[in-house]
This record gives sequence, structure tokens and C-alpha cells, in this order.
Amino acid sequence: MQMRVAEPIIAIHHVSRRYVRGVDEVHALEDVSLSIPQGHFAGFMGPSGSGKSTLLNLVSGIDRPTSGEVIVAGQRLNDLSEDELAHWRARHVGLIFQFFNLIPVLSSRDNVALPLLLTHLSKAERLRRAEVALGIVDLGHRLHHLPRTLSGGEQQRVAIARAIVTDPDLIVADEPTGDLDARNAEAILSLLRQLKQDFGKTVVMVTHDPRALRYVDDAYHLDKGLLLEGEDAERARAALLVAAGHGAAPTGAAAGVRAQP
Ligand SMILES: Nc1ncnc2c1ncn2[C@@H]1O[C@H](COP(=O)(O)OP(=O)(O)O)[C@@H](O)[C@H]1O
Ligand SMILES: [Mg+2]
Repeated sequence: MQMRVAEPIIAIHHVSRRYVRGVDEVHALEDVSLSIPQGHFAGFMGPSGSGKSTLLNLVSGIDRPTSGEVIVAGQRLNDLSEDELAHWRARHVGLIFQFFNLIPVLSSRDNVALPLLLTHLSKAERLRRAEVALGIVDLGHRLHHLPRTLSGGEQQRVAIARAIVTDPDLIVADEPTGDLDARNAEAILSLLRQLKQDFGKTVVMVTHDPRALRYVDDAYHLDKGLLLEGEDAERARAALLVAAGHGAAPTGAAAGVRAQP
């Protein structure tokens, strides 16, 4: 029987990213190839400096590869100018950061409505959509609060509402639980998973939080700019599980390192 396989929403072919620092060249990513299917929750794990943010920035069109090809939602990002890339990003990507990056003088609702300023929607419609997005993250009762009057977990939920308000294909999160306590971290991981389940969003997250292994569909392990495969990936996963206090691999959706083709 022939299975219908959906086009991957993200396809990365032989991507390298090098930075020149003084006389040195830093190989932030070396010859990474992978593809992520539409509607998956993918986690990129690895120690600090392993190239996780570099990879995420390439996928979200914030940065460009030194060599190789990045194709997202059918668009070859290499082909776009800076301006085109900014427009593309506004339409297709919702970004979530470790430190929330909310505007301190704006209410939750105004923070969430911000990305809609780039659309032709009326102000009333922008605010209405912001309220819907805040409802989805369970903050319908915090519309007029300023960020500093909210807990860290609530601020991150406002940031998630801001990331989904434009209805992007792709949600990209860089260490979204990095600044949260255990309970709030679990709530954010579970909310990201819910966005995939309820709305079919593709979520790509970078983290070194071993708890994330229980929420993602696919875990990719990076080390020193390389994407680990096979036994190397299994070993990295096992080390994370030990760090998370699990002796054995969990079962269910998050189990199993996805074999790279
Ligand atoms: N703008 C930059 N200029 C020079 N080196 C950089 C730059 N951004 C990242 N790097 C280097 O690339 C490597 C990978 O960085 P990064 O992707 O931020 O890692 P991670 O997110 O896994 O901690 C590190 O050695 C880092 O110092
Ligand atoms: Mg990083």
C-alpha cells in the first residue's frame, strides 16, 4: 500500500553556518540536513554553543546559511532579499523567546496585537484577534495587565499568544522554558503541544530542558554544530533522560529518536 507522505514544511539541505571572529572561523553548523513534516512538534536539543539558535534563526529567516539550502513552507529562503525575508517571516512564522520580549508599557492585549500592525486589519479587528489568541492561552482574564504584573509563566503565555495571533504556519521557540520554574515550564511545553494538536501548527523548539523529550514528536540532537545521528543521537538522548531523572526511555509519542533518511 502506498502511504501519502505530506511535503515537509521544513527542508534543510547540507546547511553550514560559519562566523568569522577575529582571525578565527567558528563553525556554528556543519553540513546539517533534515526535514520536518507539517504539523510536527520538533525539538532541537544540545549543550550551550552546539548551534541550536543558529539553526533556528536559519529556519525562521532571521539569518542566512554560509552554504546549503533552507526551504520552509515551499519557499527557498536563500532566494529572498532582506526585505522579502522580513515580509515572509511576518506572514509565516511566530517567534517565542526565552525572555518573553514583551513591551513593558503595553497591556497583554496590545502586546499580542502588535504583529497585526503589519496587516490591513482595523484596530477593532486587531484587538478582537488579540483577545481570541489570549483566550487560547487561557489569559482571557488578563487583557489589560502590564507584563510586570504577570508571573513569568503568564508572560510567556502572552508571548505565545503574540506568536499565534497572525495564524502562522510555523511556531519557532528558542529556549521557551529557560527562564521558568518546573511547573510553568511543563505548562508551556504542554501548551506548545496543544497548538500542534488543536490547530495543526508545526512547532520547532530549541531547548536544553530534558523535560521537553516527553512533549516533542521528534528530538534532534546537536553537538558542536553537528546533527547527531544513529548511536550518537541515542547516547545524547540517554544522557538527557538521566539528567531528567528517568532511568529508561519513556513510551508514547515522544519516544524514539527519529532516524534521519
Ligand atoms: N553572531 C555570531 N558571531 C560569532 N559567533 C557566533 C555568533 N552567533 C553564534 N556564534 C557561535 O556559534 C556557536 C553556536 O552558537 P548558538 O547557535 O548560539 O548555540 P546554542 O544556541 O546551541 O547555545 C557558538 O560557538 C557561538 O559562540
Ligand atoms: Mg541558543
